[in-house]
Amino acid sequence: MNIAKVALLALVAQAVPPASLALAAPAPTPLLGVAWYPEQWPEASWEKDLSLMEAAGIRMVRIGEFAWSSLEPAEGRFEFAWLDRAIVKAAAHRISTVLGTPTDAPPAWLTAKYPDTLRVDSTGRHAEHGNRRQFSYTSPRYRELCRRIAEKMAERYGSNPNVIGWQIGNEYTEDSYDDHSRSRWHQWLQAKYKTLDSLNEHWTTAYWSQTYSNWDQIPMEAPRGNPGLLLDYRRFVTDMWREFQRNQLDAIRAHTKAQFVTTNLGGLGWADRFNRAEISADLDFISWDDYAGMGHLDPVRNGAANDLVRGWKRQNFWVMEAQPGFVDWAQVSNALDKGETRAMAWQAIGHGADAFAFWQWRSALNGQEQYHGTLVGPDGDPVPFYEEARQLGRDFAATAAALEGTQPVSEAAILHDYDSRWAIDFHSQTQRYDQIKVLLDYYEALRRCTQSVDIVPASVPLADYRLVLAPSLNVIGEALARHLVEYVRQGGHLVLGPRSGMKDGYNSLWPNRQPGPLATLLGGRVEQYYALLDDVSLQGAWGSGKATIWAEALSASGAEVLMRYGPENGWLDGQPAVLTRAAGKGRITYLGALLDGTLMRSAMESMSKSAGLRPAFGPLPEDVEVCRRAGASGEVFVLINHGNQTHTIGLPRPMRDLLSAGQVRSSVTLPRQVVAVLQPADRPE
Ligand code: GAL
Repeated sequence: MNIAKVALLALVAQAVPPASLALAAPAPTPLLGVAWYPEQWPEASWEKDLSLMEAAGIRMVRIGEFAWSSLEPAEGRFEFAWLDRAIVKAAAHRISTVLGTPTDAPPAWLTAKYPDTLRVDSTGRHAEHGNRRQFSYTSPRYRELCRRIAEKMAERYGSNPNVIGWQIGNEYTEDSYDDHSRSRWHQWLQAKYKTLDSLNEHWTTAYWSQTYSNWDQIPMEAPRGNPGLLLDYRRFVTDMWREFQRNQLDAIRAHTKAQFVTTNLGGLGWADRFNRAEISADLDFISWDDYAGMGHLDPVRNGAANDLVRGWKRQNFWVMEAQPGFVDWAQVSNALDKGETRAMAWQAIGHGADAFAFWQWRSALNGQEQYHGTLVGPDGDPVPFYEEARQLGRDFAATAAALEGTQPVSEAAILHDYDSRWAIDFHSQTQRYDQIKVLLDYYEALRRCTQSVDIVPASVPLADYRLVLAPSLNVIGEALARHLVEYVRQGGHLVLGPRSGMKDGYNSLWPNRQPGPLATLLGGRVEQYYALLDDVSLQGAWGSGKATIWAEALSASGAEVLMRYGPENGWLDGQPAVLTRAAGKGRITYLGALLDGTLMRSAMESMSKSAGLRPAFGPLPEDVEVCRRAGASGEVFVLINHGNQTHTIGLPRPMRDLLSAGQVRSSVTLPRQVVAVLQPADRPE
């Protein structure tokens, strides 16, 4: 045992307040972590837990989320001594702590005393105690109680060097239809529209006699409701969660200097109940919970989800929760294959994660999630998965120096826009139009060409991208239109997919038809859209193939026609399907149809070539993914074989194989689901 550790343990024994204790070593990147719930176990078992964590290379525990009844067992009575000891004991094993505020799980005394804090669902039913998330996110009383517990925790741990950061709540999920939320909705609308005349006009409420003469008359979200109302409602939900978060954020930041504040968003990255980019804006970085659920790692979908999360703040992020093999909530909660979770972790790191943490260390003996994958069994001894986690611990230690300060860099972007996701899903016209699948079709084809893609909100600065794809940018308000026109005029290539530019920022139809405010720039427009039951053929500059699910007949006034439909259903016969036009120093292209896989590839090859994009690494077998991270200290490539065959890959230049003691290689052999982390050998070690 080293001297620092002996000194630390001596201090622990004297029960010195935690802030004055010696430190866990600085948290490295990538950081391996785990959710640990010491409050669920006798303290005598902690030492064994922490020793096993340390042996696995775990350097971070997340503690405290869901522990409200242990931290404040009765109103105003706070018990932090157990948490002090847990943090100190973890530090003695070189493990830093991330503290979760427990506000996703209000205690029974709170629910009983303050039933006005309870969430109400859309049918009017009040939530009850016995699970988590039973609170209303707008309740002033609940927010006040949240602020108080967050503040008490921050006062105590805000300068504790073993606490590296904070997680607010857990996976913001359920909004509420209680009376207070309803009146906040009305206030929100009033602040936005100022007058009912303005609201009535923007929502075209003359339709079906919806005209409002009093703010109180305006309903909350309803199935197949007014499109303007539905879009605003999601923005309202976003603002309410943002307020909910800011309440605790302010309380924490008042007492911290060096600690970060994040939250862990759930929903497998793609969930869109609220705008996740906006929620991320107030935090130091964003975290997400990356679960495969049933089945196996889908490399395209999961890789894109990591890129999506990185795009919310356009910076590296954390994976705060991942399954140790399997979950307990899928239709079939099968285990990922041996090695597959490691591949998943490395995929996240390759796409910009700086930490990867498992949920959870050990199942509570009782409680709702008994079957979930863990690293140790109910006896506290390792389960088979522990070895795979330990391998990751070794991996991370071997690559930390090289990865520190690096991030993915891309010259091509896909726009992901919540307004457009909502607008299309409120009224999809065809259930076959799955917007995530549409985005992934573009993503997969583009990534094959560039080996690196950013997925970003539409409003971010775009000037650094040579190529920007907007697969379904349905809502283009005036400000966004100006932003996109400027991008093209300054030299970018903007590619709009079908359904783009149909609606303005109020979810009203643009009267000049798609792509609305970009039609002049394009020199063309959509004459009519068609939801397809049967594929239609199309041919032209990108070859020939099929349009599936959705096709639009276009007309060109100034644009060049790149593709036309074949003679299939009468309406589309011979009509333009793809238009392109040089504009300013750049170019705008409009695809009126969803393309089959082969055509999509050929379209992406053509457009990325003419935009001057190059692959980040070089030719690779289809199954092998490469991710490039770069920073002041140079570049690092993560190679992952997602396929079943072993592949030997020639490297574009000699590289150090960081997972094999830094040996310099000109090729690497990757069996199934095996990873290599490579650093060009021409940079100093
Ligand atoms: C997450 C949640 C965790 C745990 C986990 C189980 O969504 O944040 O608390 O319930 O799922 O997979």
